[in-house]
Amino acid sequence: MEIRSLTPADATAYRSLRLRGLREHPEAFTSSYEEDVQQPLQVAELRLASQRTSFWGAFQGRELCGAVGLEREGRAKVLHRAKVIGMYVVPEATGQGVGAQLLQALLARSRAEGLESLVLTVTEGNEAARRLYERCGFRSFGIEPRAIKVGPACYAKNHMVLDLTSS
Ligand SMILES: CC(C)(COP(=O)(O)OP(=O)(O)OC[C@H]1O[C@@H](n2cnc3c(N)ncnc32)[C@H](O)[C@@H]1OP(=O)(O)O)[C@@H](O)C(=O)NCCC(=O)NCCS
Repeated sequence: MEIRSLTPADATAYRSLRLRGLREHPEAFTSSYEEDVQQPLQVAELRLASQRTSFWGAFQGRELCGAVGLEREGRAKVLHRAKVIGMYVVPEATGQGVGAQLLQALLARSRAEGLESLVLTVTEGNEAARRLYERCGFRSFGIEPRAIKVGPACYAKNHMVLDLTSS
């Protein structure tokens, strides 16, 4: 499994992977398949080219089978922190440490950039994802009730933080 940064040249593969994740796990993500499938390829290209975001992909041969992103904020008071977004590993590749390797690549870059704090949200009940984040040092600091609504069902979101100054 090769882990590397994604570039705009990966946009087609990244868009397909993302849409599969959104379609198969609607409760795991705040974005929805129905909205994202309407967006042209250019949106994925711009996302992968943006200075605000960085993405890593896990490749088995030429096939993209997992990805994760880091989203920075532009305002001065929050330059020290960033958000982990879009963690997804296809079911054929789960349980082999791919998610952990993607996070390690993201953490290495975050430390190299001097980021001090990473945040993320994980839907309550998504134990595989929560355990993965906890293994990497993330800790829960609050639960937001009714954070997302998928059809008639509301889901709470667990807000997690990793303090990079003490780990
Ligand atoms: C959550 C998700 C990213 C985990 O990805 P993954 O690649 O399976 O993660 P890992 O392989 O690093 O860890 C998963 C499990 O495999 C185990 N594992 C890791 N390497 C292993 C190995 N070499 N041999 C056996 N087991 C291994 C881990 O210990 C972990 O076990 P646990 O869940 O019982 O604690 C993936 O299941 C997924 O994409 N789910 C759907 C979308 C989603 O929920 N995204 C998160 C949004 S917040």
